[in-house]
Amino acid sequence: MRTNFLFIIVIFHKVIYQITAFVHPIEIFGKFFIDSITREPFYLKGLDYQPGGAAAVNLKEDVLSNPSKCIRDIVLMQDLGVNTIRVYSVNPDLDHDFCMTLLAKAGIYLVLDVNSPLPGQHLNRYEPWTTYTMGYIEHVFKVVDVFSKYNNTLAYFAGNEIVNDKRSARNSPPYVKQLISDMKQYMIKNSPRVVPVGYSAADDLQYRIPLSKYLECEHGDFPHGSVDFYGVNTYQWCGHQTFETSGYDKLTEAYREYAKPVFFSEFGCNEVTPRLFEEIEPMFSPLMFTTFSGGLVYEYSLEPNEYGLVKIDESKKSITILEDFKTLKKMYHTVNTPTPEEVAHELANADNPNSFKKITKASECDSEYENIEITKQPSNAIGKEFIEHGVDLTHSPSFIELESEDMHSVEYKVYDVDGGLALILPLLLITKN
Ligand SMILES: *[C@@H]1O[C@H](CO)[C@@H](O)[C@H](O)[C@H]1NC(C)=O
Repeated sequence: MRTNFLFIIVIFHKVIYQITAFVHPIEIFGKFFIDSITREPFYLKGLDYQPGGAAAVNLKEDVLSNPSKCIRDIVLMQDLGVNTIRVYSVNPDLDHDFCMTLLAKAGIYLVLDVNSPLPGQHLNRYEPWTTYTMGYIEHVFKVVDVFSKYNNTLAYFAGNEIVNDKRSARNSPPYVKQLISDMKQYMIKNSPRVVPVGYSAADDLQYRIPLSKYLECEHGDFPHGSVDFYGVNTYQWCGHQTFETSGYDKLTEAYREYAKPVFFSEFGCNEVTPRLFEEIEPMFSPLMFTTFSGGLVYEYSLEPNEYGLVKIDESKKSITILEDFKTLKKMYHTVNTPTPEEVAHELANADNPNSFKKITKASECDSEYENIEITKQPSNAIGKEFIEHGVDLTHSPSFIELESEDMHSVEYKVYDVDGGLALILPLLLITKN
């Protein structure tokens, strides 16, 4: 009982503290994400969030549209100590105001994939020309249009692991570049804020390094078609490892001179369980913090692939906190993200290639890249009409006023992994702005 009681107090205390936080838009400055107001570097201490997996997006619901589920999960995210979540797919026709406001109140940013598994809403990696259609582009632009209106949208992923084998590497890279170009042209013309656009790469050295260079370069055929950052999915640190035995040393070396921010868009190998999350220590240490801007642990909820931190039982309206949740919470609460002074100090080292300055011009594209083909010519006419005139939204997005009563309609029981009742939601008290 004693520990349960403490658990509640911690949440209560944090929420009160977080409510006053105003969410500053994050932008990119050279190799870093920075807070646009304080100009301090921003590091992702995050989590991948897609309860229900790929099937969780449909005409009626996605993971950011249901207020009671958002309350349930955002309370626990706060308790974990995360500042960013990644969501893999949304339906832009739904209303996301409540969940986005609640995330903002909790000081949590969103990294959002613009594709969805629904038909017509993603690229076919082998024959992308069959899927790069008006309908597809309209879906992507709607996502971009809606979420650019929330200040806590940190970034978009134009694609996730689209290039992951020989055939996709032969056919799809120029389509990813075209999509980045279209998304950025759309925001420049239609959005209050141009949210950074990046790509999330599969854990495969053969493709991810050449692809990172190709997606970063400037080419006349793809206006604004250079990624603003690069996401790396990595599962190579399993169980008890070191910077060297895990191969993180080589990974860091490979991205050290990349001109844009890089972060781990997925990490947290589960080949050895329970997971220890010890990679978080080097990640926020001088070994890595001038190369990587933090990362996102895969993933919040337990799904068939067994990476979860919590187990959700919708029929019983219950959620169970698993062992990995506690370990990650401890890591996220003990390992601090680097201070601006620490970053500045590290950058001043003579052998560090990443100075804290704005690099305005990306390098010109080479004529070829190792292991990938870039000769396909996607049509740049498909998005033109929408870029010129915008897309129609079903709902006009904005933050909303949250009342404390809004928070009391939720009934989920939270259990500890040993079976005891940890707390009953809702405990989150939100006051008016
Ligand atoms: C979003 O950020 C901008 C720039 O800091 C600020 O002017 C604006 O008031 C913010 N909007 C909201 C709704 O918080």
